[in-house]
Amino acid sequence: MAIVYQKEKRIFTLQTQSTTYQMKIDDFGFLLHLYYGGRIDGNMDYLLTYYDRGFSGNPYDVGNDRTYSMDALPQEYPTMGIGDFRNSALVIKNHDGSECCDLRYARHYISKGKYELPGLPAVHAKEQDAETLEVILEDQISKVQVRLLYGVLEKEDIITRSAEVINGGVSGIVVEKAASASLDFVSGTYDLITFYGRHAMERNFQRNEIVHGSYVIGSRRGTSSHQYNPAVIIAGKDTTEDYGKCYGMVFVYSGNFMCEAEQDQYNQTRVMMGLQSDLFHYSLAPGEMLAIPETILCYSNKGFGDLTIKYHRCIREHICRGKYSDSSRPILVNSWEAAYFDFDGETIYRLAKDAAELGIDMVVMDDGWFGKRGDDNGGLGDWQVNEEKLGCTLGELAGRINDIGVKFGIWIEPEMVSEDSELYREHPDWALQIPGRKSIRGRNQLVLDFSRSEVRNHVFRQICDVLDQGNIEYVKWDMNRSITDIYSSTDSQGRTAYDYVLGVYDFLEKLREKYPQMLIEGCSGGGGRFDAGMMYYTPQIWCSDNSDALDRLRIQYGTSFFYPMSTIGAHVSAVPNHQTGRSASLHTRGIVAMTGAFGYELSLAKLSEEEKEEIKGQIRRYRKYEELIRKGDYYRLSNPFQDEYAAWMHVSEDKRKVLMHVVMLENHGNMTVNYVRMRGLLPDAVYEEAETGRSYYGSALMEAGLPMPVELGEHLAYQFVFYAKDSE
Ligand code: GLA
Repeated sequence: MAIVYQKEKRIFTLQTQSTTYQMKIDDFGFLLHLYYGGRIDGNMDYLLTYYDRGFSGNPYDVGNDRTYSMDALPQEYPTMGIGDFRNSALVIKNHDGSECCDLRYARHYISKGKYELPGLPAVHAKEQDAETLEVILEDQISKVQVRLLYGVLEKEDIITRSAEVINGGVSGIVVEKAASASLDFVSGTYDLITFYGRHAMERNFQRNEIVHGSYVIGSRRGTSSHQYNPAVIIAGKDTTEDYGKCYGMVFVYSGNFMCEAEQDQYNQTRVMMGLQSDLFHYSLAPGEMLAIPETILCYSNKGFGDLTIKYHRCIREHICRGKYSDSSRPILVNSWEAAYFDFDGETIYRLAKDAAELGIDMVVMDDGWFGKRGDDNGGLGDWQVNEEKLGCTLGELAGRINDIGVKFGIWIEPEMVSEDSELYREHPDWALQIPGRKSIRGRNQLVLDFSRSEVRNHVFRQICDVLDQGNIEYVKWDMNRSITDIYSSTDSQGRTAYDYVLGVYDFLEKLREKYPQMLIEGCSGGGGRFDAGMMYYTPQIWCSDNSDALDRLRIQYGTSFFYPMSTIGAHVSAVPNHQTGRSASLHTRGIVAMTGAFGYELSLAKLSEEEKEEIKGQIRRYRKYEELIRKGDYYRLSNPFQDEYAAWMHVSEDKRKVLMHVVMLENHGNMTVNYVRMRGLLPDAVYEEAETGRSYYGSALMEAGLPMPVELGEHLAYQFVFYAKDSE
C-alpha cells in the first residue's frame, strides 16, 4: 500500500521506495503539510509548532487561540483570503468581487491506478503500478470545491500532484491563479536551480539561494519557452551530483507557467509550480471545472545524479507513449541546414540517395514544401503541397525515396498563419488578435486561435490530406514564435491562453490516433517548448536551433537534468556552424550528437569521401550503442560551464556496459591532465576498456578516475566503451 490513511489521526502517508510524503487534516479541517523527504516511519505532526505571531491573523473558528495562524503553518494547498500572506497556490475571485477561498476537508478517496486529467497530458501507469489519492476540499460559503490529486508511483520514487477547481456554487467565479503543487518546508535553507536561456541557447544551469522575498520564473509567451524551462530543483546548500538532498518539480504543461520560491518571515520556504497568473482569468460558471496541469515531484538524498535517473525513467516510461516510447528511433537527415527554402523534389531525392549510401534511415523535408513558401514571409496555413516547386507530387517523391530504402518525413507548423496565405485571406478572424489593434508579428507570422475547434479542425483536415498522399513516417511539429494578442472572439474572459494549449494537445492526440505508427518530433525554434507536456505526444523534440557542438554540450547538459536522452533531438551539422561560425571536427560533432536521438542536418553531397567514411562509422557506432544511450542510466561527469572538459556517460541497467564521452573545452600550453571520475559502476567489478583492452576496477574508475590524454588540437573528443568482465 503506497497510500495509507490513519483515521484517528487523520494523517495521509504516501510512501515510495525511498521517500515519504505526509499531510494531516487538522481539527479545523485545514489540510496541513507535514513532511516530504527521505523515507521515514511514524507521524511527523510533531513538527507543527504553534506560537502567538504578531500580525499573522487567526481564523475565526479557532476562537481566541492566537497561536493558530495560516500565515505560519505549513499547508498543502494555500489559498488567498485565509490569513496566509505568503504566495497562494489558488486565487479565486468570487461573484461579489472578494478574493477568498477557505478550503476545508470534505472527503477523500484512495484508489488503485493513476488518475488522468481531462484534455491534459499526465503521468500514466499500469493499474498495479500506481495509486491515487483524491482529497476534496470545500469552501462552505462559495461552495467552490478543489479536488487535490496525488499519484504515487512507488517503485519510481515519483509523486505527482494536480488539482481540479470546481465551481459548486450558484454564481460565476474567476480563477485568477492556480498552481498544481506547493511545497512548504518548515526548516532548512535551500537553493533553487532553474534553467534559463534564449532562442538557440536554452536551459542554462542557474543556482540561487532562496532568500527572504519571492523569486519567480515563468513564461508569458504562450509556450513553456526558451527563456525558462518549467522544471526546477530545490537543493540543500551542499548538494552536488552525487551527494545531498534535492527535490524536483517538473510541470507537465507546454504553455504559460509560473514557479515561485519564497522564504517567509519565519525562515520557512515555500515553492510552488503552476499556471502563470498573468494573462489568465479563468471564468467558471456554476458546475464548471478547471483542471490544473500536473507537477511531477521527486526527491533524492543522493544528489542530482540520482534525481536525474529517476526523472529520466519516469518521463521515458510514464510520459512518453506509443510505438516510439520504447523503440529505436530512425537516424534522420533533415533538409533545413542542408538547403533551407532552396530545394525541389530532386534536391530531397538526392539527399535521400546520399543518405541511403551512408546508412541513414530517413530523410526529412523541412520547411518550404507547401503553399507559396519561398521564404519565411508567407504560405503558413496553406497546407497544400507545392507540386510546382517539388516538380512532382508528394506521393511520387515519398515513393521514389522509399524505393531506395529510405523513410520519408515532413515538417509542419499547424498553429501558424502568414498574412500572405489563402487561409488568412479567407479567415482573417482565425488569427489571434485584439479587436481594434494591430497584431504583433513574430517571424512575420500570426498565431491561429487554436482554442477554437473549427480552426483546429480545418487545419487538421488539410494536414491529414497531405499525410494521406504517401508513406509519411515522421512529422516535425514546429512552432516558431511567442504568442501575443491573447484574445478569442469566442471567449474574452482570460481562458484563451490555457484553452489554446489544450487545443494543441487535442490536435496532437487526434494526429497520434490517426497515425499511430508515425513518429512526431516536437520543435519550437528548437527548444522553445521542450517540456514534459509535449513529450506525452512527441517522444522526441529538436533540442535547440543551435547545432554548434560546443554550445550543444552546455544546452544538452542543462536539458539532461530532467529529460531523458531519448527525447533530445541532436544532429551533426556543417562547419563552419551556421549559428556560431565555429568549426569542430566531424568526430567531435558526432560524439556530441550521439547523446540524443541522433541525426544529420547538412548537405551530404558536399561531404568528401573521407567524411562519408567517417559518417558510416558514426552510424555503425550509434546503432551499436543506441539502446544504451536511449535507455541507460545517464550520468553527468563534469559541469561544462566550469570545467575544462565536458564528460558524461551511459550505463546499462545491470551496470555492466558503459559508454563514456569526453570533449575537451579548453586547451592550454603545457596542459595539465584531467582525470574523469566515473559514476554508477559496480565497485567490485573489473571493467575492460574496449579499445585498449586495459582493465580497471569499478571502484578505481569512480574514486580516482581515468586520466584524459593531453593532445594538441581543438575540442578533441573521446569515446570510451567499457564492459564488465566475469573474471580479471
Ligand atoms: C525552426 C526550426 C528549424 C527549422 C525552421 C524552419 O526554426 O527550429 O529546425 O525547421 O524552423 O522554418
